[in-house]
Amino acid sequence: MSDLTTRDSAETPDHGHGPASDADAADLARPLFTGPGALPAADVPHRPRASDVDPRAARRVERQVASLFLLAVIMVILFVVAYVAIDPYTMVYVPVLGEVGAQNIALGVTFGLGVFAIGAGAIQWAKKLMPDVEVVQERHSMESSTDETDAAAEQFERGKEESGFGQYRLIRRTLIAALALFPIPLVVLLRDLWSPKNGGFGPSPVEVLSETAWEANMPIVTDGTYAKIRPEDLPVGGLVSALPENINEIQEEEHNLNARGKAAILLVRMEPDEIRSQQGEGWDFQGILAYSKICTHVGCPIALYEHRTHHLLCPCHQSTFDLADSGNVIFGPAARRMPQLPIGVDEEGFLVAKMPFQEPIGPSFWERG
Ligand code: FES
Repeated sequence: MSDLTTRDSAETPDHGHGPASDADAADLARPLFTGPGALPAADVPHRPRASDVDPRAARRVERQVASLFLLAVIMVILFVVAYVAIDPYTMVYVPVLGEVGAQNIALGVTFGLGVFAIGAGAIQWAKKLMPDVEVVQERHSMESSTDETDAAAEQFERGKEESGFGQYRLIRRTLIAALALFPIPLVVLLRDLWSPKNGGFGPSPVEVLSETAWEANMPIVTDGTYAKIRPEDLPVGGLVSALPENINEIQEEEHNLNARGKAAILLVRMEPDEIRSQQGEGWDFQGILAYSKICTHVGCPIALYEHRTHHLLCPCHQSTFDLADSGNVIFGPAARRMPQLPIGVDEEGFLVAKMPFQEPIGPSFWERG
């Protein structure tokens, strides 16, 4: 007898143990499903589906399934179009998610709808058009025999006695305390995922990585001489490695290598009409732009600048950034543009940062969130 059989043909169960016993007969007499509202399967009359008895309903279902598969085809085409046509750096605002890449959204939506349409079409096809047959699968009893449960209980008791678990009360209590407290460190580690932004109490990784020595009105000084810089000190086409004025204080602190590295910036000057885009409104000063000096691939410092093309080349793996176009990546393995620092001048005409960096500095191995 087959394991999988229709209800009608399952009247004489054979559980693989020879002829049907009285217990088997009692099992069969019990309803298959119990609980509130459950009816014995044998008592539920089989109702044919509309598509089984009405050819027009069947054709309607056929059209629904075909439409879903056609929708999947359209989504695949739109996916390819989105990949080719949408600029990977175009951002859009999506409620709840905030600023996200337009291409990522388009790819996600088209791919998701395509997969959904194929799945929904297959389900509709199976439910409405494939043969509608009720089957019952007989199974062995899952219950252990009395001998087996007695043997297990005996072994447990022997183990308890041999280990002395019942005898050594102090050991028993301290072990229970240790095991009870063991999950606490795992829960405490989850604190890192909790940021004030999400209603928690610790900084998020994005906030930590965005934090540098730069703050509003921080004077910009040259790397080496620590002299303040006036806009006229920087000719068009020029490049200067620079630091925040408080860099010397930072250098006196211990364990501050990261802080010093993250503070390094590059100043470049180009004709204002050569600037195609910036990362914020009016972030340059008369064509002078400030970018982080730390490559967003794996963090090499960069200072190879080609002033005619405004390309910044990382010597480590050849990532190339276009400083006239928001520092976007135009070549190489870097996955993210160079962070830009908004700059202006103070009352004495020296270059200063207008505000801190607005995004994480350095490699992009974390979730940008
Ligand atoms: S660190 Fe710059 S390209 Fe790899």
